Amino acid sequence: MARPIIIDTDPGQDDALAILLALASPELEVLGITCVAGNVPLARTTVNARKVCELAGRQDTRVFAGASEPLSRALVTAEYVHGKTGLDGYELPEPTMALQDQAGADFIVETVMNAPANTVTLCALGPLTNLGLALKAERTMGARLREIVLMGGGLFEGGNTTPAAEFNIYVDPEAADLVMHCGAPVTMIPLDLTHQTLTSDAIIDDFRAMPNHTGPASAGLLDFFERFDVEKYGSQGGPLHDPNVIAFLLKPELYGGRLINVEIETSSELTRGMTVADWWGVTDRVKNVTYLRDVDVEGYWTLLKERLATLR
Ligand code: RIB
Ligand code: CA
Repeated sequence: MARPIIIDTDPGQDDALAILLALASPELEVLGITCVAGNVPLARTTVNARKVCELAGRQDTRVFAGASEPLSRALVTAEYVHGKTGLDGYELPEPTMALQDQAGADFIVETVMNAPANTVTLCALGPLTNLGLALKAERTMGARLREIVLMGGGLFEGGNTTPAAEFNIYVDPEAADLVMHCGAPVTMIPLDLTHQTLTSDAIIDDFRAMPNHTGPASAGLLDFFERFDVEKYGSQGGPLHDPNVIAFLLKPELYGGRLINVEIETSSELTRGMTVADWWGVTDRVKNVTYLRDVDVEGYWTLLKERLATLR
């Protein structure tokens, strides 16, 4: 029985590889992909998500447009990382598959409330606005979810958007705050983990050498994606953040962390969007998040390459 998931995403090259990994994995049933404004505006994330589904040969996937801006703040985008299109690095054809008519947040609420309790997993790869809207529309939804697995936050690595905040949380801290306290088991994959899963020339060459279309396309996307972080951090490669969310579902044994309290800064402009993670247990705040710090890096890349090699 495949595990039913909803992917909420702001593609983005790293989102793209996460979507490809999910679509290449029979252990998962992608009930739908809801798009959110983040890396690039919504008008582009909805196109990019469909481009990636068609790259995977999965025009049957249902793709929904979600929020075009955060719950209560102006949108902040990241073209400086992902390029103007959000998928710079490889030219994918314009999509032929249509968007679904239903709004993303409504799809999330309807799907979760109509499914048996504790069966649907939400995989959040971008700002959490769609989840925030869904939780505001249906307060009981959180407790009905099997799990929320999200890429976001950071503590030991600090932030990548401000010194204190990681992009997905920074863009919509109010939505993130709702998610942290929604009643669902929350697993957070922060920069502390994703800064270990760095691309390399050898890894990108492995994708380029794949005898299919997905491999070389992924290599082109990664070539572009890594350049920002290499310049910024002086690292040997770029942290491929989002596929860790899907890899965790497929092989949880590759990951490690602990159940701790995580709160979101929503008041201070200086530390807006900071994930205040009580890793050392110095408070008696409720332990609401499984915070992952450890990853088997080789196992991650092996899984990603193996699965993407199976696509067209
Ligand atoms: O901070 C990294 C996260 O922000 C990733 O999900 C990336 O795609 C952007 O959404
Ligand atoms: Ca993302």
